[in-house]
Amino acid sequence: MSKPIPIAVVGSGYVGLVAAVCFAEMGHPVICVDNDERKVAALRGGDTLIHEHYLPELLGRYRNDRVRFTTDLGEATRECDAIFIAVGTPQSETGDADLSYVEAVACEIARSLTSYKVIVEKSTVPVYTNEWISRALERNGVERHLFDVVSNPEFLREGTAVADFLHPDRIVVGADSERAGAILGDIYAPLTSGEYYQRADGIPGMCSVSEPPPLLMTSTKSAEIIKHASNAFLALKISFINAVSNLCEATNANVEQVARGMGLDSRIGPKFLRPGIGYGGSCFPKDVAAFRSVADQLGIDFNLLSEVEKINVQQKRRFVSKVRSALWNLRGKRLAVLGLAFKGDTDDIRESPAIEIVHMLLNEGCSIAAFDPAAIERTRQVLPEGNNLRYATDAYNACADADALLILTDWTEFSELDLRQINQSLRYPIIIDGRNLYDPAVMSDHGFTYLSVGRPAVHPVRDLAASSRA
Ligand code: UDX
Repeated sequence: MSKPIPIAVVGSGYVGLVAAVCFAEMGHPVICVDNDERKVAALRGGDTLIHEHYLPELLGRYRNDRVRFTTDLGEATRECDAIFIAVGTPQSETGDADLSYVEAVACEIARSLTSYKVIVEKSTVPVYTNEWISRALERNGVERHLFDVVSNPEFLREGTAVADFLHPDRIVVGADSERAGAILGDIYAPLTSGEYYQRADGIPGMCSVSEPPPLLMTSTKSAEIIKHASNAFLALKISFINAVSNLCEATNANVEQVARGMGLDSRIGPKFLRPGIGYGGSCFPKDVAAFRSVADQLGIDFNLLSEVEKINVQQKRRFVSKVRSALWNLRGKRLAVLGLAFKGDTDDIRESPAIEIVHMLLNEGCSIAAFDPAAIERTRQVLPEGNNLRYATDAYNACADADALLILTDWTEFSELDLRQINQSLRYPIIIDGRNLYDPAVMSDHGFTYLSVGRPAVHPVRDLAASSRA
């Protein structure tokens, strides 16, 4: 039987809140700390504040009981054995991660630290951060034997964060002390022993099979690098397939066939080979930039990462050129846009390629009717409705009298549209799909001009494309 370990989680954003309720689900008592009083009040009242599957259920099960919410980091420090730091590490102007919130938390922990604690880096941080945290604690009067700093990076994806936490591919613990490594081992024992997966009161429907995940023990620096290297590699995979998709477009080949042929090689694997309008979200753009910056500071030539970023920027421009190739002049064109979130199943618009494309098209003089199942309210904050932009009530309403339909986010409901109704609503039967949600043959049967990513165009408009470039 695993033993409960009192845990503090500092920061109640995506990573912190998910970690807090999942540790509770694993049997540990948790204190979740945030310095935003309104957030704490909302969480105590059961409002999850973010759109995430299974989070409402878990918050409902444990709030104000096995998970307590507070603004008092001192109390949490005194009561808990392990303190997970899950505060934001935003991108600074130079591309590095801004670690000032992490430093502030370390200094505050130091004020209340009187007995041994494990301080855990949960936020994505650059290599050497553990040493800076140790230095901050020591400078603020904490004796070295009273703490260890370990790295336990999180690999959760938005939308499936709870399932990713409880059913991870691997758990990485970077610890340079046996004592600290053992405490982290105890914390994750319900998962690594398989005990959690035998329980009858698990979350219904979450995951039917679960092999206990491996726990990889590394040095602290290696764990810090694993997180950045993993995200940078996934971003690289996406940029790679996007570049290949451009090659397919130029040769009239089909990127889906190419990706399938590549992915069947077990050394490459089929995942993260979906071409599109580029990666976005709160992690990949920031982490690639931060990893590049780490390499620069260490004098390592890792220019490959700059190329990954370059392809990602070009992919959005290329999509706008594709719209131009279908519609000739963009000024004055009315466009229906489906999708604003950076990916389907989330209301998150941070670094969303869809929003960037909407910006570019508005600057080109288009007028846009946009619809997203979850992200309209957030988008309104950065792109208020105005003369050239309106938010539609559904996909069909967005298409009313539009010159073309653009698909920018991979929501499942956008792949199940009533194509007959769409065809009747649009002024011209033109769809430009940045997420390859439809079979080109089906689009052809419905009489659409259909341009997607890296696949042969239906009713090609190459002549127009060539003359508009001329
Ligand atoms: C990512 C990582 O997957 C996760 O491990 C890490 O902890 C945080 O960052 P997330 O940002 O939630 O998670 O999104 P993810 O599902 O990985 O997608 C990121 C972006 O890549 C999205 O914009 C998505 O549309 C795009 N993408 C993903 C592609 O364009 N093609 C693909 O094949 C996969």
